[in-house]
Amino acid sequence: MAMTTTQLYILGRDADAGSERGVDCPGELPPASDPDLVERARKAKEALGERLFVLGHHYQRDEVIQFADVTGDSFKLAQQAAARPEAEFIVFCGVHFMAESADILTSPSQRVILPDLGAGCSMADMATFDQVEEAWEALEDAGLADDVIPVTYMNSSADIKAFCGRHGGVVCTSSNAKRALEWAFEQGKQVLFLPDQHLGRNTAVLEMGMSLEDCVLYSPHRPPSADKLRGKKMILWQGHCSVHGRFTAESVDDVRRRVPGVNVLVHPECRHEVVLKADHVGSTEHIIKTLEAAPSGSSWAIGTELNLVKRLAQMFPDKSISFLDKTVCYCSTMNRIDLPHLVWALESLALGEVPNQITVDQDTTHWAKVALERMLALP
Ligand code: 13P
Ligand code: SF4
Repeated sequence: MAMTTTQLYILGRDADAGSERGVDCPGELPPASDPDLVERARKAKEALGERLFVLGHHYQRDEVIQFADVTGDSFKLAQQAAARPEAEFIVFCGVHFMAESADILTSPSQRVILPDLGAGCSMADMATFDQVEEAWEALEDAGLADDVIPVTYMNSSADIKAFCGRHGGVVCTSSNAKRALEWAFEQGKQVLFLPDQHLGRNTAVLEMGMSLEDCVLYSPHRPPSADKLRGKKMILWQGHCSVHGRFTAESVDDVRRRVPGVNVLVHPECRHEVVLKADHVGSTEHIIKTLEAAPSGSSWAIGTELNLVKRLAQMFPDKSISFLDKTVCYCSTMNRIDLPHLVWALESLALGEVPNQITVDQDTTHWAKVALERMLALP
């Protein structure tokens, strides 16, 4: 069989796949080359039975995703975590902020486990609680805070979600950002959108018909003056995803030159100029559904994380599915969850130990839950 563009692009890339090993696991991690790992994961899962529920984000490696009871984008996984009260252990194959959300949405008796504590998110780290509090104080001093609703992307820490809960705000994901913004604007307010400027801008301008002039960028390091913030519908926190932020407008032009008739489909965490040039934009779940529905023989260039694009190319061999850019690589923190870490977590649980439990304190849980439940209740 002739090689697809994706296969050509991804050949030689496996060396990029986060080869770092977590430093946060006490005890011995089984070596990556251990041929028994798959069997060990299967046995540990079987031993834990109904007590265990494994969630896997679409960006996880295949070796991990094969053991997920449910796969999804961050919205679907948050819903699924909330819908499993009978599971004693929720093993979250994703990143730290997702595991925190699962802990917030599950009951106190349920334990959420992140197989490698090094699986963080650089975007979430771009909005720290102190920075956001400081920005809010500046809005209060300028007499603006009463007219602002904070909306945070799921990709933020629990204390930022709690901040939004306390200040009448909401959480959103890439699947429901438009609905969350509509909800805020129906209350006649401006929005402080955290922490992903691109999702905020792309949703406001491309999905809701606002102009770029309706948006202002808020750098926590060089905050704009009160005059610049006044009257702006969208105050965009200056954060971004280091993976999606690397796709360029040139890569869209380039793939169009190389592949006649190609459909370009990108995630809304990509930069505005990339999304403007693309044919379709949507969350990971939307990307999968679009490819499922696409006609056989159609060509697609996808701008999202490489583990998912590789999997999609394998799932739909009747379609030509390529990776949008030659220089973008895997999300290194998502990739930290590998089979050795998963086996270690599952075997520890089967032995009665609870490794790498993610716990959010009570007050943060209360307010973050307020913001998350507002999101889950969005029409
Ligand atoms: P979604 O799963 O909401 O599409 O977000 C993508 C992402 O970057 C997760 O870290
Ligand atoms: Fe964070 Fe981007 Fe990785 Fe998602 S893909 S976990 S937003 S760095």
